[in-house]
Amino acid sequence: MSTETKPAYSPGLAGVVAGETEICWVDPNAGLMYRGYDIHEMAQKANFEEVAYLLLKGELPSGDELAAFSKALVAERALPEPVLKMLRLMPKNTHPMDMLRTGVSMLAPFDPDLNDHSHEANVRKAIRLLARVSSLVTDGWRISQGQEPLPDKPDLTHAGNFFYKLTGGVPQDWQIRMLDTIYILYADHEYNASTFAARVTASTLADMYAAVTSACGTLKGPLHGGANEESMKMLDEIGTADRAEKWMMDALAQKKKIMGFGHRVYKKGDSRVPIMREIARDLGKRLGKEQWVPICENLEATMEREKQLCANVDLYAAPVFTMLKFPPELNTPIFAVSRVAGWCAHVIEQHDHNRLIRPRSLYTGPQLRPYPGSVSGNGAK
Ligand code: ACO
Repeated sequence: MSTETKPAYSPGLAGVVAGETEICWVDPNAGLMYRGYDIHEMAQKANFEEVAYLLLKGELPSGDELAAFSKALVAERALPEPVLKMLRLMPKNTHPMDMLRTGVSMLAPFDPDLNDHSHEANVRKAIRLLARVSSLVTDGWRISQGQEPLPDKPDLTHAGNFFYKLTGGVPQDWQIRMLDTIYILYADHEYNASTFAARVTASTLADMYAAVTSACGTLKGPLHGGANEESMKMLDEIGTADRAEKWMMDALAQKKKIMGFGHRVYKKGDSRVPIMREIARDLGKRLGKEQWVPICENLEATMEREKQLCANVDLYAAPVFTMLKFPPELNTPIFAVSRVAGWCAHVIEQHDHNRLIRPRSLYTGPQLRPYPGSVSGNGAK
């Protein structure tokens, strides 16, 4: 019998502090900060490039630094031809998250800094990934729809280019501003599941592409980033606000997991929800599609009354993406286009102060017992 003292155990690592970070702080009482700046202020005052720079480099850029950073993104956005060829080889019904994960993995050998984990090389790789994850989503989608990928429009921002490279149309300023704000909200969230996966991978001193590939795989699940695609299916099924309460009561009676509700850290509200709700309200007014916010609000009130669970950002992100005319399959990939900034910042931090992340498990299998002998007859004599 083992004489080891049993390590402390927390199912799902709930409440476990698994590492230090200077990048992001999530306040369980509905606050969120990137490197000391409040998300609410940044959502009003910043654009995504500034926030990505802040996450990756630690401080806000000067005007010249921002211009150089934006220029570097433009320079890196085109995908290598073999990667485009690979996207064309994928079955037409491949989910965009699978295209993205495969694409990130294939980009690795095209990066001249791949196996250099120094701070400077990691920042260079992060800029390439930031630029190219966006292109993997837009170009991959166009290819899956039988259309050709489009070249960059260098006068547009990162968010502007996403619209343009996806649809071929130049977006209006208010659309770019909205996508920018959405990107800012999604850019980082400390040790969420996908970022933790990235850090675990990076902690073996694997490269940034390996870490971001792990993160993409982890983001896909409906308990994490996949929730925003599932939330839209739910809202479509409900259809009108007067049906929301009954729908929720029936779903809870059937013990269903309701997508867009609950959070491991936030118990009194997700700090990003009020901003995303306002974007949804604004879009609804602009486009004459005001049904979504009341449905979500009625769901929120019922969930609060029945289970004291709060909505998370994905509940309101779903109708926002729909109103911005993004196909529902792109909901989670759009989250990735933003979160890759956070993933890369965490990989840089992990490599800069590395210690292997390797927890223990609690063994619950049979106690030690004698091996009965080989049934194949090949056992040791
Ligand atoms: N619907 C129904 N019941 C729920 C939900 C939900 N969405 N979320 C939690 N619960 C229930 C749990 O089953 C549990 O019930 P029990 O005590 O009877 O077993 C109770 O509420 C408490 O759950 P927690 O311990 O708070 O949940 P946990 O931290 O393990 O999970 C998670 C968090 C995965 C986000 C969960 O709330 C969930 O599955 N939500 C739906 C998926 C979702 O929206 N994910 C997006 C998260 S945000 C993001 O990734 C951007």
